[in-house]
Amino acid sequence: MKKFKIGVLGMGRGVDLAENLSLQKDCEIVAFCELSAERAASGIERFGREVPVFKDFDTFLEQELDAVVIANYFHEHTPYAIKCFEKNIHVLCECISNGTMAQGVELLRAYEKSDSIYMLAENYPQMKFNREMKHVCDGGTLGKIIFAEGEYNHPVDPEDTDFLKGYIYFPEHWRNLLPRTYYITHSLAPLMWATGATPKRVSAVPVFSPIPEKATARMVGDRAAIVTTVNDDGSVFRVTGCAAFGAHHNAYRLCGENGQIENLRGMDGQVMLRYSAWAIPEGKQEVNLYEPSWNDSDEELIENAGHGGGDYIVARMFLDCLREGKQPDHPYDIYSATTMSSVAILGHRSLLGGGQPYDIPDFRLEECRVLYENDNDTPFFGSDGSEPTIPCCSVTEYSPSEEQIKAYYEAIK
Ligand SMILES: NC(=O)c1ccc[n+]([C@@H]2O[C@H](COP(=O)([O-])OP(=O)(O)OC[C@H]3O[C@@H](n4cnc5c(N)ncnc54)[C@H](O)[C@@H]3O)[C@@H](O)[C@H]2O)c1
Repeated sequence: MKKFKIGVLGMGRGVDLAENLSLQKDCEIVAFCELSAERAASGIERFGREVPVFKDFDTFLEQELDAVVIANYFHEHTPYAIKCFEKNIHVLCECISNGTMAQGVELLRAYEKSDSIYMLAENYPQMKFNREMKHVCDGGTLGKIIFAEGEYNHPVDPEDTDFLKGYIYFPEHWRNLLPRTYYITHSLAPLMWATGATPKRVSAVPVFSPIPEKATARMVGDRAAIVTTVNDDGSVFRVTGCAAFGAHHNAYRLCGENGQIENLRGMDGQVMLRYSAWAIPEGKQEVNLYEPSWNDSDEELIENAGHGGGDYIVARMFLDCLREGKQPDHPYDIYSATTMSSVAILGHRSLLGGGQPYDIPDFRLEECRVLYENDNDTPFFGSDGSEPTIPCCSVTEYSPSEEQIKAYYEAIK
């Protein structure tokens, strides 16, 4: 049996993906790339098998690799994907695909010159309730989906300082500067997947309410961005990016002409499917509350995987693409991935500008690419020492207190 040889960049999230890929019989993790010796050691311990770890990406790429998983810093995926394209190495890339508009253009230009398969490693559409919602939408009983909502809502305990060491371990880390619209794929991709729609216009407003964290250097006082997209099929989505309000949930709701389906917040994956009284299909009630099933031969492996089983399914989907030599379906393909990045980036621009709408460029068209090919604006520090060029928070002068920042430095020591 041919085994696909896979390398993994970044040994935080990258190790989760390595574990899930390893469950596929025709796949072997042959190399990691990680800058930090400490994170490399803990990553190997977690992975449970000795695999060479390279510090330098170019040396790592000299290994015999069929594909690379890109799981380095959130906003710096593009240059590494491009290096893979130059060698026709396939790419499974964590979210988001590009940290700036210019990088989106650069990524696509390089991709179109290569034979690489590119897939976004977006796992939330593959959670059980989201798979069920797509299944029901595909069945057609709801009619055309005209409005949908997606919330990725992750409040943090203001007293908890333990997670800082593992997740926000230096002051310039991307999580300290992450605008609320940027982590968009977990709320948006499930809706795109269920409906097939693609955003064409975006606007966003902030919910400014700094979390009273004991120790923090988070420069974003917004708790959420309320992002609206108008889509190519005339539908409208309202999504949050990464929010931190109310109680924790991943919640989605799809409304059609005849009824709606949603997973109920706080009800552990139960799905509520309702129809208008005049449009109840045969075999259904007006109100249907149920726990969906996987209907999948890999159910046991899925149940044991992270992110509600999504991690396993994404790994399997990528391997299926490699086996069949095909690009993934919408919204896992590179054009959908860059569209979602545009929603993230231009959504933030809208939020900073009081909610003014922005057209989402169609990066298949050269005339749209030239508009953005030099647009390098970023709210993040770069690994090369470059500084942010735009604010990350709606209240541009916002900063945590000196006391909070001092406690943050203590916590990450
Ligand atoms: N889909 C999901 O559910 C999910 C969950 C967590 C994280 N993520 C995504 O995965 C990516 C990584 O997340 P994380 O939490 O591990 O981030 P992180 O910032 O904690 O870790 C990134 C790792 O990459 C390493 N790295 C950075 N640049 C490097 C380089 N040039 N060469 C070698 N190593 C380098 C860092 O040392 C670090 O270990 C991000 O895009 C994040 O958004 C996705």
